[in-house]
Amino acid sequence: MEISSSTHSRQVNEDFSSAIEPSKTRKGTVVVLKESACRKHHSERSQRKDRLAAMGEMAAKIAHEIRNPLGSIELFATSLQASLEGQPDLQLLAERISSGVKSIDAIISNLLQFVRPNEANRFERFDIYEALDDSLFFMEHLADKENGVNVKVAYGPRPLFIKGDVELMKQVCLNIILNAIQSMPGGGELCISTVQRAMTHVGRPALVEIRISDSGVGIEPGNVFRIFDPFFTTKERGTGLGLSIVHSIVEMHGGIIDVESTPGNGTVFSIGLPLCADATEAQESAYEKAMEKEVSA
Ligand SMILES: Nc1ncnc2c1ncn2[C@@H]1O[C@H](COP(=O)(O)OP(=O)(O)O)[C@@H](O)[C@H]1O
Ligand SMILES: [Mg+2]
Repeated sequence: MEISSSTHSRQVNEDFSSAIEPSKTRKGTVVVLKESACRKHHSERSQRKDRLAAMGEMAAKIAHEIRNPLGSIELFATSLQASLEGQPDLQLLAERISSGVKSIDAIISNLLQFVRPNEANRFERFDIYEALDDSLFFMEHLADKENGVNVKVAYGPRPLFIKGDVELMKQVCLNIILNAIQSMPGGGELCISTVQRAMTHVGRPALVEIRISDSGVGIEPGNVFRIFDPFFTTKERGTGLGLSIVHSIVEMHGGIIDVESTPGNGTVFSIGLPLCADATEAQESAYEKAMEKEVSA
C-alpha cells in the first residue's frame, strides 16, 4: 500500500489483527504499518541491474559489429606489412595500423568489462613493460605527428613482474597516455617513469610505481574528485569512461592510483601495483643496487 502526502510518498506493508477482550468480545482492529523501504530499494536495484544487463547486451552486439571489419583491417595491414619487404619506413606505418587496430579491440574489450564486470579475466604473471612498451609504441606516433608532444621515458629495473591481465593493463596505460596527449593541444612533454618500491610492511609485497606526467592544461581542483566517475568528461567528444575503467582495473590488480594536478602546469598520474612475490633475480639485484644508492646518497 502507498501512503502519500503533498510532498512524500511511502510504500508500507500493513498487518491487521483483531483486538479481543478477555471476555472474547471484539473491541476493534489493530493495524500495524511497516515502511517497506527495503522493498523499494530492492526493486530500484533490480531495475538498475536489468538496465545494466540490457546495456551489456547492446554493448556486446556493437562490439561484435565493430570487431568484424576490424579483423579485416588487421588482416590487410599484416599482409601489406609483408609485401613492403625492404621498405622499413612504410612497413612501420603498416605495423602501426595493426597496433592501432589492436588497441581499438582492447578498448572494446574494456567497454565490455565496464558493462559486464563479472566476466572472467585472465590473470597471469607478466612483465609490466609489456603493457608500457606496447601502449607507448602506438601512442608515440600520435604524440609526434599530431600534437608536437615530446615523449620522455625513465624506466627503472627490468623486468618487473606483476600478476594480472596484460590487455587490461595496456588499457590503463593507453587511457592515461591518451588523456595526457589530449591535454597538450599546443604540444608539450609527456614523461613516463617506473620505480620499484620496497615493501613498506612485513608481508606486504613490493610495488612498482608507474608515473605518467604531462605539461598540459591540468585539472581544475573542483574536478579532481570527479575524474574517476563514469561519464565525467570536460571534452566535447569525450565519453568519460576512460578513467573510471582505469580505476576499476587498477583496483582489480590490488593497486592504487593517485593524481596530482596544477591548472596550467600539468598533471601526474601515479599507479602503484603489487609485484609478484616470486621476484626474479634481476628484480632482486636491481632492488639491492637501488637500496645501496639510497644508503650512500
Ligand atoms: N592528463 C590530464 N590532463 C587534464 N585533464 C585530464 C587529464 N586526464 C583526465 N583529465 C580530465 O578527466 C576527464 C575524464 O577523463 P576520461 O575518463 O579519460 O574521459 P574522457 O577522456 O572521455 O573525457 C577528462 O575529460 C579531463 O577533464
Ligand atoms: Mg580519456
